[in-house]
Amino acid sequence: MITCTSTAQVVAMEVSQEIDEPLVDLAPDGSVEATNKDKVSADERVVIVASTTTSKAHLELLELQDRASKRDPSEIVTIIPYMGYARQDKLFREGEPISARAVARAISTSTDRVYSVNPHNVSILDYFDVPAEPIDAAPQLAKALPDDLADPIFLGPDEDAEWLARSVRDSYGTGHVDNFDKVRHSPTEVEMRADDKDFSGSDVVLVDDMIATGGTMSEAVDILAGQDLERVFVTCVHPLLVGNALSKLHRAGITSIYATDTLDRTVSNVSVAEPIAEKL
Ligand code: R5P
Repeated sequence: MITCTSTAQVVAMEVSQEIDEPLVDLAPDGSVEATNKDKVSADERVVIVASTTTSKAHLELLELQDRASKRDPSEIVTIIPYMGYARQDKLFREGEPISARAVARAISTSTDRVYSVNPHNVSILDYFDVPAEPIDAAPQLAKALPDDLADPIFLGPDEDAEWLARSVRDSYGTGHVDNFDKVRHSPTEVEMRADDKDFSGSDVVLVDDMIATGGTMSEAVDILAGQDLERVFVTCVHPLLVGNALSKLHRAGITSIYATDTLDRTVSNVSVAEPIAEKL
């Protein structure tokens, strides 16, 4: 059986269909809500799908794990389509917490294994005290792109995104990989350097793990606007889209995004249910 946080309902429904297991609500004592007509046995494996966008969503996950453990199931599997706090993955400044480690440890207490879709840095999976593996959404993003891309460039807006751009290119099957250089001045302000990079005549596919404020993608598209490109496609795994991100992207001339449903957003048009189901 599958259960989910309120922040991961779409992807949980899709996973439920993929693996043909019921999506249920769990009561505090671990029983399945009476409203659900699906038959589930007492010791059945429980799969929890949870995108921890906020502290509340993180708590929701811990509570679901607590409810699931009351059932004494054969196994509790935790799927984290989007893992919050993942960017606070090391000590950036003395006195700050390593939040990714703190939440990973908490999540580990009531689960047997964990899967996380494209965590910001795969090394954070080492913070879990149970086996934890990444799931790569790059093949799904590649599949969603038009199949007639002309001499495509898969472009990371910064050096960190290059590996993901490479992974999407590898899945797409053809094209070059490159990246811009980015300096972040504040949470909402980034400066991007393209040096002499010129992609004229190509289709460009921008690839990033996440769009948060939209500053990074807007800057990248702004630079590309000065070049004689065929088409520009914007892709990301996690469309966090905080604040006025969508209108910022719109102002930058971005009219469509290929984004996965690790987060329930209006732009979440690429499903990650299949690679998740493969792990189950
Ligand atoms: C940064 O390391 C990430 O890969 C993304 O580039 C970043 O999180 C995007 O944030 P924003 O949309 O706020 O520029």
